[in-house]
Amino acid sequence: MSNRELGQEPFTIFSRKDDHILASIISNVDMGSTWFEKIHIITDSAPDIDISEIDTTTEFLGKRLSLPLIIGALTGGTDLGLKINKILAQVAERFKIGICCGSQRIALENESARESFRIIKEEAPSTLKIANIGAPQIALERDEKKIIDMCLEAIDMIDADALAIHLNPLQECLQYEGEPSFKNLLSRIELIVKELKRPIIVKEVGYGISRTTARKLSNIGVAAIEVAGRGGTCFTVIEKYRVQNVIDRELLEMYDVLSELGIPTLLSLCEVLEEFSGKIIASGGIRSGLDVAKAVMLGADVTSIARPFLERALEGIERVVRYVERISRELRIIMFLTGSRNLRELKENTELLVESDILEVFKMRGLRKCIERVMRCT
Ligand SMILES: Cc1cc2nc3c(=O)[nH]c(=O)nc-3n(C[C@H](O)[C@H](O)[C@H](O)COP(=O)(O)O)c2cc1C
Repeated sequence: MSNRELGQEPFTIFSRKDDHILASIISNVDMGSTWFEKIHIITDSAPDIDISEIDTTTEFLGKRLSLPLIIGALTGGTDLGLKINKILAQVAERFKIGICCGSQRIALENESARESFRIIKEEAPSTLKIANIGAPQIALERDEKKIIDMCLEAIDMIDADALAIHLNPLQECLQYEGEPSFKNLLSRIELIVKELKRPIIVKEVGYGISRTTARKLSNIGVAAIEVAGRGGTCFTVIEKYRVQNVIDRELLEMYDVLSELGIPTLLSLCEVLEEFSGKIIASGGIRSGLDVAKAVMLGADVTSIARPFLERALEGIERVVRYVERISRELRIIMFLTGSRNLRELKENTELLVESDILEVFKMRGLRKCIERVMRCT
């Protein structure tokens, strides 16, 4: 079934971009839990360290970041998208954190939409930048040369250090104008990995990557996985908001039924850690420096936050700046309280307590690495 069979197409790609922004700020679109509240940091009240000697920097895909943090994929293509991307890029450059742009499909198809993405390379010339395209764009294109050209164009548009490909099968099913067509996707991603010779990141959009998916991605050589699990922004809620006036009540209920789907971010991170030896970005409901610290302690290389940056960018750059400063401060405090001079020590030398129901889940899913991690005592 094509979603377009549902009726007359009431949206354009331009209106969709701003609808997503609007829908995600006017109502609470966080759904479920990340499960991060189920793990606890064991602190040390006599750390042999001064807070001023703490180093939160990390190297990620060839760039040095001041924090293990990337501004997540959000938008681009419209006037509003341009304003948001400008602010986010300025903040990324100022703090030397990463930035991933929203899907560039709109700009690959419409010259007029390109400026809202180019602004990222203008405002953030030196920090880590990640280009972004979607799974259906790759799966539906038959011409392999066109796929590679499209990827190169997306990278060139923002002078990106890496390319993110977002996997969003559930969103494609729920999006009115979605294209739930993923046949040949993996072989196409493999082709991109081989031909592009740039790091390829594969990400979800809020439903999490399972260990089965991670194994498939590992086999085709992707450089990094961004888990984008459940517990943060939920596209089931966003897409329901968009279609509420154009579909009947029966179909609208489908959105409520399917809102239970998604792998919590903590579980997704642990599943990916088990199968994947490349770089791992923890995301989906990461909201604070405490979440960043827990993700790094479990084994993530960096983290990514999306919607909270959008909300603050709409209020102006100062709110975004203060948010990054807050996350940095919270992370430093956790590092101080665990005697961690740097992120390696935070990852390797600290103690985590996990609630018994989560330990049971780890056992059920055969997540040996995470079990070893939480059993480890310094
Ligand atoms: C308004 C909005 C637009 C988004 N657009 C994209 C996109 O174009 N490409 C993409 O890969 N992810 C997109 N995402 C998903 C985010 O990158 C992220 O994976 C997801 O929101 C979970 O993170 P969060 O809980 O921190 O928001 C979007 C999210 C929001 C809120």
